[in-house]
Amino acid sequence: MAISFSCSACSQKSSATKLTWFFALLLILATMIQVRAQPPTAGFVNIDCGWTNSSAYIDNTTRIVYRFDGESVEGGLSHEISEEFMAGAANEQQKTLRSFPDGPRNCYTLASIIGKKYLLRALFTYGNYDGLNKTMDGSPFLFGLHIGVNFWESVNLTNTDPSDTVWKEVITVAPSNAVSVCLINFGSGTPFISALELRPLEDTMYPFVNTSVSISYFQRFRFGNITDPITRYPTDNYDRFWQRWPDTSYPWINLNTNNKVKSLDNVFNVPSDIFQKALTIDTNYSHMSIIVATGRNQDGKSLQLLPIFHFADINERNLSRRFNIYNAEDLLFPDFSPLRFQMDSKYKSGEFLHADAFFNLSKTPSSSLPPLINALEVYSLVRMDNLTTDSADDKYIKEVKTHYNLAQRNWNGDPCSPREYSWEGLTCDYSKSNQNPRIVTVNLSTSRLRGGFAISFMNMTSLENL
Ligand SMILES: *[C@@H]1O[C@H](CO)[C@@H](O)[C@H](O)[C@H]1NC(C)=O
Ligand SMILES: *[C@@H]1O[C@H](CO)[C@@H](O)[C@H](O)[C@H]1NC(C)=O
Ligand SMILES: *[C@@H]1O[C@H](CO)[C@@H](O)[C@H](O)[C@H]1NC(C)=O
Ligand SMILES: *[C@@H]1O[C@H](CO)[C@@H](O)[C@H](O)[C@H]1NC(C)=O
Ligand SMILES: *[C@@H]1O[C@H](CO)[C@@H](O)[C@H](O)[C@H]1NC(C)=O
Ligand SMILES: *[C@@H]1O[C@H](CO)[C@@H](O)[C@H](O)[C@H]1NC(C)=O
Ligand SMILES: *[C@@H]1O[C@H](CO)[C@@H](O)[C@H](O)[C@H]1NC(C)=O
Ligand SMILES: *[C@@H]1O[C@H](CO)[C@@H](O)[C@H](O)[C@H]1NC(C)=O
Ligand SMILES: *[C@@H]1O[C@H](CO)[C@@H](O)[C@H](O)[C@H]1NC(C)=O
Ligand SMILES: *[C@@H]1O[C@H](CO)[C@@H](O)[C@H](O)[C@H]1NC(C)=O
Ligand SMILES: *[C@@H]1O[C@H](CO)[C@@H](O)[C@H](O)[C@H]1NC(C)=O
Ligand SMILES: *[C@@H]1O[C@H](CO)[C@@H](O)[C@H](O)[C@H]1NC(C)=O
Repeated sequence: MAISFSCSACSQKSSATKLTWFFALLLILATMIQVRAQPPTAGFVNIDCGWTNSSAYIDNTTRIVYRFDGESVEGGLSHEISEEFMAGAANEQQKTLRSFPDGPRNCYTLASIIGKKYLLRALFTYGNYDGLNKTMDGSPFLFGLHIGVNFWESVNLTNTDPSDTVWKEVITVAPSNAVSVCLINFGSGTPFISALELRPLEDTMYPFVNTSVSISYFQRFRFGNITDPITRYPTDNYDRFWQRWPDTSYPWINLNTNNKVKSLDNVFNVPSDIFQKALTIDTNYSHMSIIVATGRNQDGKSLQLLPIFHFADINERNLSRRFNIYNAEDLLFPDFSPLRFQMDSKYKSGEFLHADAFFNLSKTPSSSLPPLINALEVYSLVRMDNLTTDSADDKYIKEVKTHYNLAQRNWNGDPCSPREYSWEGLTCDYSKSNQNPRIVTVNLSTSRLRGGFAISFMNMTSLENL
């Protein structure tokens, strides 16, 4: 009945980006959650794409309220996954999806607070909804994601199990009172999406993320003896997905404690549960290697990665534990000693690595104990360099669109940016490279437009020609 859990990292250490949900384990989690007080979900935006009922529902496991996507997207078609995968779905979001057979770019718009930091997650469960066996037919099945007007990541479902749920996350600063996510058709299969989740973060978190730098999830692991394949809300107030590190056989050794682990700062707000477990290695060994290199379906060569290591020594006895932290051959953090029962995160703010995500924790000669680790996050750089259309022009052209009900023209997302996805019929001025592009002409002759022009045209000061 359950969709089996395929932990790609178990059999193949290098590609741990996909999962199928563990139905039975999530049920156990659900019973636990009901007796626990839930942290607040204020500001969470939860959209079940392709869900057609405008009444919201409460997710059986997380108790988070999900809504349909009718108010956040134009166009697209709603579908259900094929019958054979229905029974195995771990939640309602996996059962429906929205596909976008038309148009090169289709965007979702989610309300946000300008300048606020968010985690945004998009989830994809193909479930052979179209009956075409697209993930397994041998041809490439690939589409793109934009965050606003910037390229975020590709979703590569080529040769994946149709029951797999793939997710992508980005940590970003809202550029306005809305965040948009666009699906880009590369001509290699119809883009689709199953769910969208927006989670507000504290502004102090991930300090290297700002209006010009976002980061995309590459890997996020927690270590130790953990039951759930994924730890998320309500253990994590921000609903980050922490995958269980799959490799715990000898010489790896699990540590855990019931003692409280203190936190002194709020840079990452990692749940204290995560610090109560750790992974170390048999004392006969002097170093541990953690390989989270690019997966089969991830194009890692062009990525610039930023690792964040989370440590707390939870050994009962006060013995010295010192180690060097390497990325491949490069020494990132020399002679590090984790604090006892206190969280300590190591990262280099804003410094992205060009090498593979291969880390080596190596005991120093003076140390009595081997290295240990509690959690690891790795992100890739997403540059937010492209400028959005001048805000007045954007506002007015959107009024025009509404006035003439021009939804069928696939006027979707930002009018002028990025350039290759600008709205059909618009001419934009990109000549001033450090200024927002402006709309120069609007040619509506291809639309079946009748009647006069809207007043709002007149206010587009840069408009030369109608
Ligand atoms: C929508 O959901 C509500 C509440 O769950 C239910 O009462 C209603 O019958 C549903 N409507 C349709 C058309 O399925
Ligand atoms: C959630 O619970 C409802 C009501 O008990 C049930 O009908 C539905 O199948 C459940 N969904 C999943 C995915 O378990
Ligand atoms: C999908 O394609 C794979 C590989 O060609 C094949 O083994 C499988 O039986 C197909 N499944 C369906 C449902 O057609
Ligand atoms: C910015 O826009 C240009 C031109 O449209 C595009 O080629 C480029 O990929 C975009 N950059 C990002 C970071 O998305
Ligand atoms: C992991 O923890 C469970 C109980 O939580 C225990 O039964 C099991 O033996 C532990 N496994 C290891 C390898 O420590
Ligand atoms: C670890 O070292 C001890 C003492 O040197 C030795 O007795 C034991 O066999 C070693 N264990 C392994 C697995 O190598
Ligand atoms: C997509 O994944 C397939 C199968 O793993 C791989 O062969 C292909 O190179 C990937 N494409 C891109 C653009 O990453
Ligand atoms: C642990 O040991 C170190 C070095 O031996 C010492 O400086 C420190 O005070 C000890 N901490 C505790 C809590 O005993
Ligand atoms: C954003 O952060 C990066 C480093 O992460 C820094 O180089 C850049 O100057 C910052 N930009 C702004 C606008 O603060
Ligand atoms: C890890 O670092 C240690 C010490 O520098 C070295 O001996 C070992 O070969 C390294 N391991 C790998 C797999 O590179
Ligand atoms: C407007 O677009 C139509 C169709 O693409 C074209 O024939 C016409 O010349 C355009 N008008 C202007 C003023 O560019
Ligand atoms: C458009 O411009 C006219 C004349 O300058 C002005 O009266 C009107 O308020 C403007 N409309 C908007 C929506 O800004």
